[in-house]
Amino acid sequence: MLYLVVFTLLFLIVILSALWMLVPAFYGPPSVPTRLKRIRKALQLANLQPGETVYDLGAGDGRVLLIAASEFNANAVGVEVGPVQCLLIKFRCLASGHGDKIRVKWGNYFKAELKDADVVFIYATSKETSKLAGHLKTQMKPRARLVSISADFPEWEPTVIDELDLIFLYVMPPVNGSPATYFIKKAG
Ligand SMILES: C[S@@+](CC[C@H](N)C(=O)[O-])C[C@H]1O[C@@H](n2cnc3c(N)ncnc32)[C@H](O)[C@@H]1O
Repeated sequence: MLYLVVFTLLFLIVILSALWMLVPAFYGPPSVPTRLKRIRKALQLANLQPGETVYDLGAGDGRVLLIAASEFNANAVGVEVGPVQCLLIKFRCLASGHGDKIRVKWGNYFKAELKDADVVFIYATSKETSKLAGHLKTQMKPRARLVSISADFPEWEPTVIDELDLIFLYVMPPVNGSPATYFIKKAG
């Protein structure tokens, strides 16, 4: 009997770990979390206000949502393709006591509705941001802010670049340009 319980537990762990890694690998970047300090800095850079709505595209373990809800008093929506990640986020939200301010949508961020987003947070590769640019441009409302960790949007000029933590801020609608045009303007 004990063998059966141990075997079932191990089997479950293997299946959940495989799902955790394999589903994101099929769609885009893997579940690599952003450091907490960097998340806070990005949300401050985006000037996230109490009552505003922030989306995390690819919500991972839900840390961005939890910080946005608990420290910024914002409404947070996660879009995440990994089913195990979604379950973990739901569990963490309930446990945190901020479940009323957090929602998680199991799905592909290339198809996400973002019309009510005041702020969009993303931590992905340059390949992903290039592919997402068109969708964000049509979905995000004027004056909404987009913060991108590590990867810029190659055809857009950032409003601010945090060079230390490599965070790019864009205010919608985007301005044509690049980080190079940003630095040229900053220098001139
Ligand atoms: C680099 S992690 C970032 C996690 C979290 N946002 C953070 O900053 O800690 C990227 C996440 O995006 C998810 N992901 C990858 N491609 C996706 C897609 N097309 N749609 C939704 N989620 C996706 C992965 O499962 C992973 O959890």
